Amino acid sequence: MSEAAVITGASSGVGKSLAIQLSEAGYKVVLAARSKNKLNAIAEEIRKKGGSCLVVPTDVSQSEQIDNLKERALGFGDISIVINNAGLGKFCKIEEVTIEDWDSQLDVNLRASFLVSQAFISDMKQREKGALVFMNSVAGKKGYPYSAAYVASKYGMRGLADSMREELRENNIRVISIHPGAVDTPFWDGTEVNFPREEMLDVHTLAQSIVHAIQSPGNFTVEELVVRRTAGDF
Ligand SMILES: NC(=O)c1ccc[n+]([C@@H]2O[C@H](COP(=O)([O-])OP(=O)(O)OC[C@H]3O[C@@H](n4cnc5c(N)ncnc54)[C@H](OP(=O)(O)O)[C@@H]3O)[C@@H](O)[C@H]2O)c1
Repeated sequence: MSEAAVITGASSGVGKSLAIQLSEAGYKVVLAARSKNKLNAIAEEIRKKGGSCLVVPTDVSQSEQIDNLKERALGFGDISIVINNAGLGKFCKIEEVTIEDWDSQLDVNLRASFLVSQAFISDMKQREKGALVFMNSVAGKKGYPYSAAYVASKYGMRGLADSMREELRENNIRVISIHPGAVDTPFWDGTEVNFPREEMLDVHTLAQSIVHAIQSPGNFTVEELVVRRTAGDF
């Protein structure tokens, strides 16, 4: 299989797990995030197991770096999967949300998802094939206290994905939104909202579910995948 997947936020957590599992499933993978050393270590792990991958250090809040990601990725393979996974959350009272924190969450979680998807759509249209995956959250479906900017970014992401899905059906491009509850990843390091890690969703199992959804055969599209702990939200 020579199909390739671009994964943003591939240096950690869900993105790292997805990169490894997509490679194991036979896809070439393009790893994008800011932390070059972490990406190189993951690339080494993938190559040791016989996988093919490309590291493109990218700050997705910078549009010219997304242009570079596009050029490098399209030179590497046919990009049939784009996973908009890079993201961050800052949790505090609404009165304490700074403009910088608002902007960083909207820029990385929402604006970059638009720009990165847009970068690969023309190519997917030409091949009449593709999947755009949006790593959303249960926070894209329901409001939560101390989470206004994060929730706003994820609601925006859901609107973006829902609209793209309707527009791109005729091009055979599948749009998949993933809405997990709390997952045990470095996302929670250093946050004051510290739920018990051992009770969170397992990142490996989540990535397995996502890879399974991406690989649905024929005319199947898993449009939305909502994954919560059996016990529900924290
Ligand atoms: N963990 C959860 O409970 C949970 C639940 C629902 C949804 N999600 C969503 O899942 C996604 C992945 O989160 P995670 O849990 O895996 O968190 P994580 O371990 O903190 O990983 C976040 C990733 O985003 C990348 N990133 C952040 N800012 C970036 C930027 N400006 N440019 C490029 N990459 C950037 C980070 O890479 P660098 O720092 O190397 O740039 C890192 O690879 C996020 O969209 C998050 O909202 C997480």
